[in-house]
Amino acid sequence: MSTPRQILVTSALPYANGPIHLGHMLEYIQTDIWTRFQQSRGHSCTYVCADDAHGTAIMLRAEQEGITSEQLIDRVRQEHHEDFKGFHVHFDNYYSTHSEENRYFSELIYTRLREKGHIAVKEVEQMFDSEKGLFLADRFIKGTCPKCQAEDQYGDNCEKCGATYSPAELIDPRSAISGATPVMKSSEHYFFRLQDFAEFLQDWTQTGRLQEQIANKLKEWLGAGLQAWDISRDAPYFGFEIPDAPGKYFYVWLDAPIGYLASFKNLCAQRDDLDFDDYWKPDSAHEVYHFIGKDIVNFHALFWPAMLSGAGFRTPTSVYCHGFVTVNGAKMSKSRGTFIKARTYLDHLNPEYLRYYFAAKLTGRVDDLDLNLEDFVFRVNSDLVGKLVNIASRCAGFIKKGGGQLGEMKNPELYQQFAAAGENIAADYERREYGRAIRQIMDLADEANTWINDQAPWVLAKDETRQAEVQAICTTGINLFKVLMTYLAPVLPQMAEQVCQFLQVDQLTWETSQTPLQNHAIAPFKPLINRVENTQVEALLEASKADAEKEMALKQASVSSNPGAEPGPLQTDPIAAEIQFDDFIKVDLRIARIVRCEAVPKANKLLKLTLDLGGETRTVFSGIKSAYQPEDLEGKLTVMVANLAPRQMKFGLSEGMVLAAGDGDGIYLLEPHSGAQPGMRVV
Ligand code: MSP
Ligand code: ZN
Repeated sequence: MSTPRQILVTSALPYANGPIHLGHMLEYIQTDIWTRFQQSRGHSCTYVCADDAHGTAIMLRAEQEGITSEQLIDRVRQEHHEDFKGFHVHFDNYYSTHSEENRYFSELIYTRLREKGHIAVKEVEQMFDSEKGLFLADRFIKGTCPKCQAEDQYGDNCEKCGATYSPAELIDPRSAISGATPVMKSSEHYFFRLQDFAEFLQDWTQTGRLQEQIANKLKEWLGAGLQAWDISRDAPYFGFEIPDAPGKYFYVWLDAPIGYLASFKNLCAQRDDLDFDDYWKPDSAHEVYHFIGKDIVNFHALFWPAMLSGAGFRTPTSVYCHGFVTVNGAKMSKSRGTFIKARTYLDHLNPEYLRYYFAAKLTGRVDDLDLNLEDFVFRVNSDLVGKLVNIASRCAGFIKKGGGQLGEMKNPELYQQFAAAGENIAADYERREYGRAIRQIMDLADEANTWINDQAPWVLAKDETRQAEVQAICTTGINLFKVLMTYLAPVLPQMAEQVCQFLQVDQLTWETSQTPLQNHAIAPFKPLINRVENTQVEALLEASKADAEKEMALKQASVSSNPGAEPGPLQTDPIAAEIQFDDFIKVDLRIARIVRCEAVPKANKLLKLTLDLGGETRTVFSGIKSAYQPEDLEGKLTVMVANLAPRQMKFGLSEGMVLAAGDGDGIYLLEPHSGAQPGMRVV
C-alpha cells in the first residue's frame, strides 16, 4: 500500500441549545464513515468536533431554564456526545468552543489580523431592547409586516407574503424577548475586512478544493463583491470579550470554526503522536477536511480560509458539503412526527440501520437526501438481512458441524475477484460516493449468494462422501462474507466487531481483506442483525410526535413560568396526542390559595406566589407579571400542578406550576367556582 497519509477531519460544531436530530446525524455519520474508511486503508485519520457554545440564543435559553450558560452548555455537550456515541460516531476529541484553547486562538487570530490592518471599527445603528438592555438580532424582533400587514412576523422577513425588509420597517415592532418596543441605538462594531482577501479567495475557491456546485455558487458571490464582516456583539453576550475592547464580544461565528483548532490542540496535549504545528503550519503536507451542510458554506469557504491565511495558518485541503435530510419527501415536521431526535431514534431502532441507509443514498454532491421510511425498512431488510448476513448464516452451520474450522476454499478465483474489487470500492469511498460503493458491494453479495445457491451445500451435506466439498464451499462462502464485511465495516462498525468475534480475527482492514482465512478456527455464529419491523418505525413516529408535544407544553409552561421566554405562535401542530386516563391521573392538580404575591426584581415576567394548599405552603414562580398587579392576586384561588418536580430557577426554587390560559399575547390565570377549598383535588 502507498505511504500513510496524515489526515485531520472535522464535522460542523452543533449548537449547544438544542438536541441532535436525524438531519444532523447525516453529517456525523458521513464524516465517521470517511474516517473509519481512511483508517481501514492504513492512514492516520483524526476526527475532532465540539459543541458550539456561544451566542445570544444560548444565553437566553439558559435564562429561560433558570440556569447559567455554563450549566446549560455542559449538560447539552454531554447529551450530544451520548447521542453521537449511540450512533457509533467516534470522535478522537469532542470539545467545546467555550474553552481556554479557543479563547487563546480566537485572540491570536484576531490580533494577527488587526496587526495586518484587516480589522475596521464602525458605528452601527441597531434595534435595542431597553428593558432587557440588549441589542436585538433580527430574529428577536417581531411586528406587523409592512407589505401585507400580517401580524407577528420576524424582523427580517414575512412568513405570510415572503417580503424581506429591515426591522426598522416593521409596523409596531417589539422585542420578542421582553415585549418592549425597541429603540434605535448606535454602538461601535468591529469588522473583519473580507474584501482585503478578494484575490486570494478568487483563487482559493476556484482551484479544485471545492465541489463544483459550491465553487460555482462562490463565483457568483465573489462576483457580487465582498463586504466587511461584522465580528463583534455588545454585552451582555455569552462568548469571549475582544482584547482591548471592553464590553465587546466576538460574534459566535468568529470563534466557532476556530473551535476546530482548539479541539485539535486539546487533543494534541493528550497524545504524543500528534503535533499541532505539523497539521496547521502554512506549508503543512498533512491534510485537513471540513465536512459541513450546505447552509454554512459562506463561513467555511470564505470567512474561514481568509481568517486562516490572514493569521498565518494553513487553509483546509477541502471543504466537503452535503445536502439536507428530508423525511418522506418533505422537510422534517414536528406535527407529522418526522422531526426525529437522535435519542428517540435510538430508543426504537438499531443505529446501523440508519448508517446503512444514509450511506446507500449518499453521493459526493450537495443534493438533499430523502429518508423515505418505507424504502428504509425495505432496504435494510433486503440488503443487510436478506443478502449480506444470509451468506454467513447459510454457511456457518456446516462449518460448525464439520468441527468449527475453516478449511481450504473451493473457489479461490471468486475470492480473488472480490478482493480485487476493493480498489474501485475504495475510490468511491474516497470521493464520498458511498451509494456507489454500497451498490458494488451488494452486487458482489448477490454473486456470492448465487454461487452458494448453485453449489447447494445443503444437498451435498446429505451425502456422507461429499463432506469435504461442503466444507470447501462454506469456507469460500465465509471468506466472501469476510471481504464484504470489511468493505462495509466503515458503515457498520458494530456489526464488523461482532464479525471479528465470529471469525476470531483482530480486525478487518482493506489489507487483511486481500488474504483468505483458511485452516482457521472460528466461533459459533450468532445472529448479527434483526429485521426492521414496520411497527418499530410507527412507534418511532409516535414517540417523535409526543416529543414535539412535550416540547410545546414546556414552551407554554415557560411562557407562564419563565422570564425571557419567547412568546408567539409555536412551531408545532397544537393538536395533542390522545392520552389514557392513567396518564391524566398522574398529574396531581390541586386548588391553591394565593396568600402572597410579589414581583421579582430584575425579572421582566415573573411573579413570586406563595400558595396555600390547605395546610401546606408552596412557592411558585409564574410568568404572569404582564397581566396582573401582584396585590390583585392575593387571596384569590387558582389551580396548581402539585406534583411537578421542583425546579431551581435563578431567583429561587419553584415548587410547582399554576395553570393559566394563554395564546402568546394575553395570559389568564384559572380560578375555580366559589365553594372550592385550598387542597381539593381537581379531577
Ligand atoms: N453551529 C453551527 C456550525 C458551526 S461550525 C464551525 C451550526 N450548527 S447546527 O447545529 O445548526 O448544524 C450543525 C450541522 O448540521 C451543520 O453542518 C448543518 O448543515 C447540519 N444540519 C442541520 N440540519 C440538517 C439537516 N436537516 N440535514 C442535513 N444536515 C443538517 O450550523
Ligand atoms: Zn407580509
